[in-house]
Amino acid sequence: MNKYTDVKRFIEYSLEERKDEESAYITHYLQNYDHYAGDYFMSPVVKYITDSSQLRLPIQWDVPFPPTKTPSFTFIDLFAGIGGFRLGLQEIGGKCVFTSDIDKHAQIVYEKNFGELPFGDITKLDKNIIPPHDILAAGFPCQPFSISGLKKGFEDTRGTLIYHVFEIIEKRQPKVVLLENVKHLVHHDNGNTLRTIIKVLTSLGYQTSYKILNATSFGIPQNRERILIVGNKNKQFDFSKINFSKTPNLKDFLDKEADFEYLNPNDYTLLKNTKKQLSGLIFSGYRNKEIRKAGVRPGTEHLSRVHKQPNRIYSIEGTHPTIPSQETSGRFYVTDGKVVRKLTINECYRIMGFPDQFIKSGIQTEQYRQIGNSVCIPMISETAKEILNQLM
Ligand SMILES: C[S@@+](CC[C@H](N)C(=O)[O-])C[C@H]1O[C@@H](n2cnc3c(N)ncnc32)[C@H](O)[C@@H]1O
Repeated sequence: MNKYTDVKRFIEYSLEERKDEESAYITHYLQNYDHYAGDYFMSPVVKYITDSSQLRLPIQWDVPFPPTKTPSFTFIDLFAGIGGFRLGLQEIGGKCVFTSDIDKHAQIVYEKNFGELPFGDITKLDKNIIPPHDILAAGFPCQPFSISGLKKGFEDTRGTLIYHVFEIIEKRQPKVVLLENVKHLVHHDNGNTLRTIIKVLTSLGYQTSYKILNATSFGIPQNRERILIVGNKNKQFDFSKINFSKTPNLKDFLDKEADFEYLNPNDYTLLKNTKKQLSGLIFSGYRNKEIRKAGVRPGTEHLSRVHKQPNRIYSIEGTHPTIPSQETSGRFYVTDGKVVRKLTINECYRIMGFPDQFIKSGIQTEQYRQIGNSVCIPMISETAKEILNQLM
C-alpha cells in the first residue's frame, strides 16, 4: 500500500509541468477509485495508473482528515475554501465526491488536510465531470442579480456564480441543497437576491426553507450569524428540530501557552462596569485611538458603538465578535480583566469549531482571511444531522 504523501511526490515528479487541473483529477480519482464516482475522473488519470508500478492502490491516507470509509451519504463541496463544509459533513459520515475553489492558497490548505486538490474556477468547469451526489453544499459568494421579475427560471441568473450551482443542481438533481451565506443576504439588493435564489430552487423542484443561525447556539463562543438555506425535493426542512447547545465562554477555548501579543497598558482603557449583551459579548474596553466623531456625545466612550470594531476589547468571560473575512481588520483584542492581548490564530480556528489537528498554511494574514471566510463547523454538522433525519 502506498502512503498518500509518497504518491503525491511521484505524481508531481511524473507531471512534466505541474498542471493543477491534472492534479485535481488524480487526487479526485484516488479518493474515489473504489466506487462509482471514480469513473468521472478516470480518463486523464489512466496513464499514471496503468503505466506505473509506483502507483499502487489502495492508498494509505496519511492526512489529518482522510476520506470516509463506509459513508452513509455523498456530497460535493463547492466554493470549498479551506473545507469547512467538508469537515462538518465528513464528521457525520459523508463522503465528498467533488470539490472546487478558485483560490490557490485555499486549495493548498485543502489538499494538505484532505488529500484532494480542488478543481478551480466554477465558471470554467465541465459540469459533466461532477458525479451524482446526495447533498450539494456551497458557501457561495453573494452577488446581485441584474434582473427583476424572473420569468424563465435559472437561465435568468446567468452571469452570476450561483448560476453555476443551479446548473449543477439541474444536471445532477441532488436530494438536498445546502447553501450558506452572510446574514445580510436577507437584505441584499432589497431582498431580491434571496427571493431569486428561492424562486430558482423552487423552479428546479426544490421545497426551500432558510434560517439565520448563530454559532453561539452550537457550543461555540463566537457571535457569528449566518443564513442557511436548505432545498429538498419532497419535504420542507424544519430548522426548529436542530439540536442546539449552550453558549460557552471564550475563556474555555483559549491557548494555555503561546507567543501572545500583549497590548501596552498605556494603549488601552478598561471599563469598570461591564455588562453581558444579549449576543453574549461583554464590551470591556477600547484601544486609546481616535473615536468616531459623528453622533458621539461626550461621556459615551464606554459604549461599544463609539469605537471602530478592531479597537474594541471584549472580555473572555463572554463571546467573541464575528471573525471577519477581510484580513485588513486584523485579529481582535480580548481581556481577562488584567491584561489585553490579541487572539492567536489557533484560537481563531478553534472558535470556528476547527479541530486542533487542522493544518494551517501560508502567511498569518492569509490564514486569518481563510478562517474568516469559512463556516462554523458544528453549525454545519448539526444542521446536516437533522437533514439526514428529516430528508434522507
Ligand atoms: C465564503 S468563501 C467559502 C469558504 C468555505 N465555505 C470554507 O469553509 O472555507 C467563498 C469561496 O468562493 C471561492 N470562489 C470565488 N469565486 C469562485 C469561482 N469563480 N470558482 C470557484 N470558487 C470561487 C473563493 O475563493 C472563496 O474561497
